[in-house]
Amino acid sequence: MRHFTCVQDLGDLKQALNEAFEIKKDRFQFTELGKNKTLLMIFFNSSLRTRLSTQKAAMNLGMNTMVLDVNQGAWKLETERGVIMDGDKPEHLLEAIPVMGCYCDIIGVRSFARFENKEDDYNEKIISEFIKYSGRPVFSMEAATRHPLQSFADLITIEEYKKTARPKVVMTWAPHPKSLPQAVPNSFAEWMNATDYEFVITHPEGYELDPKFVGNARVEYDQKKAFEGADFIYAKNWAAYTDPNYGQVLSKDRAWTVDTEKMALTNNAYFMHCLPVRRNMIVTDDVIESPQSIVIPEAANREISAQTVLKKILMGL
Ligand code: CP
Repeated sequence: MRHFTCVQDLGDLKQALNEAFEIKKDRFQFTELGKNKTLLMIFFNSSLRTRLSTQKAAMNLGMNTMVLDVNQGAWKLETERGVIMDGDKPEHLLEAIPVMGCYCDIIGVRSFARFENKEDDYNEKIISEFIKYSGRPVFSMEAATRHPLQSFADLITIEEYKKTARPKVVMTWAPHPKSLPQAVPNSFAEWMNATDYEFVITHPEGYELDPKFVGNARVEYDQKKAFEGADFIYAKNWAAYTDPNYGQVLSKDRAWTVDTEKMALTNNAYFMHCLPVRRNMIVTDDVIESPQSIVIPEAANREISAQTVLKKILMGL
């Protein structure tokens, strides 16, 4: 594997899951693989889990790691061609990327949707430029339209907790005060569509995702109906995708907050969220603190998904 931006890059999903479970049994069995290899992690946006879990995964493989927060201490980067650079951005991404590539063997990039230009976001302008100009294998640490390391960890977690071969997994929109990208729900949908689970998406009207990611999922506008018989509830907020509302917050309706009453409609479902989560907006204290909440093991599996991906990339160097 050279680059990792979506589920297809992983190849055979069952095999990748088996590799992940092997790594989880002994995460230090491949320490020679990353010896004298350097991972550069570039963040255009904030992070807790991705930063720590990916760095830990690289260290488990014997790699050296460097972290660059582009907006804290680095030169501000211009991303548009043709701009007369007489403003506050002294460096262009098209020089910065190949320079970064000189100092490392693998590059991880976090660059969220900016909601300034839908075409740029959905063409994955920033991570595509890293792939094109860095000369290094590049993996997504959440790009504009997908968060594949999160989705892989989510899938590992569902595989660990599922009680039936084909669980019912429900992804529900939930309210949030700010405008959030669609990367996590898009990606989760893409990965769920790559399994044979029963997969349902529920959200208020106006929050339809790109049909490319919805795939074969059943879309149910009645949240309570969607929850009936669910084995896993995956909560997430996202801003509107469809025009003319791209990037807009259309609703903050707390009737969509995941609470005990709604969880009672499920088949004693596990509650999942990628974190960070706003309590009593997305989910009530009672639900996230309940024994059915698996948000912490889900976050712990971020180390395993990152290590599986890094191992595959290292093996291809
Ligand atoms: N879930 C996730 O990616 O967390 P961070 O934004 O903290 O990295």
